[in-house]
Amino acid sequence: MHMKASDHDHGPATVPVRIILEDPHGLTEDDKPEHDLMAAKGESILELALEHGISMEHTCGGVCACSTCHCYVEKGMDDLSESTEAEEDRVEEAPGLQRNSRLACQCEVIGDGPIVIRIPAWNRNAVKEVPH
Ligand code: FES
Repeated sequence: MHMKASDHDHGPATVPVRIILEDPHGLTEDDKPEHDLMAAKGESILELALEHGISMEHTCGGVCACSTCHCYVEKGMDDLSESTEAEEDRVEEAPGLQRNSRLACQCEVIGDGPIVIRIPAWNRNAVKEVPH
């Protein structure tokens, strides 16, 4: 199941978000490891990435039912919506769990940033190894 790049309209994109890709070639058409983007408040990190051609995994379609959209928040955790109990339970299943681990589909931009997100390279590979 895959979500559209944007399911609903957001306000103006005013919040700077840097997305760092550990495996840029696996997720985009070029080798650019860092993408400086602008997000709208209310937009999730997953929506933002997809809108800008970063094909991060989101097996459940962004409904907190997998952990393939796992990312690390390197800066700006307070500018993202707080993680729910459901997200915390789910993210624990992700490989490479860290204290700053989040599910990209569950963190919505709420503050003014700047926000820095790292998308681990092995996330994508791990998904491919799990049979559906
Ligand atoms: S896409 Fe499945 S939990 Fe985020």
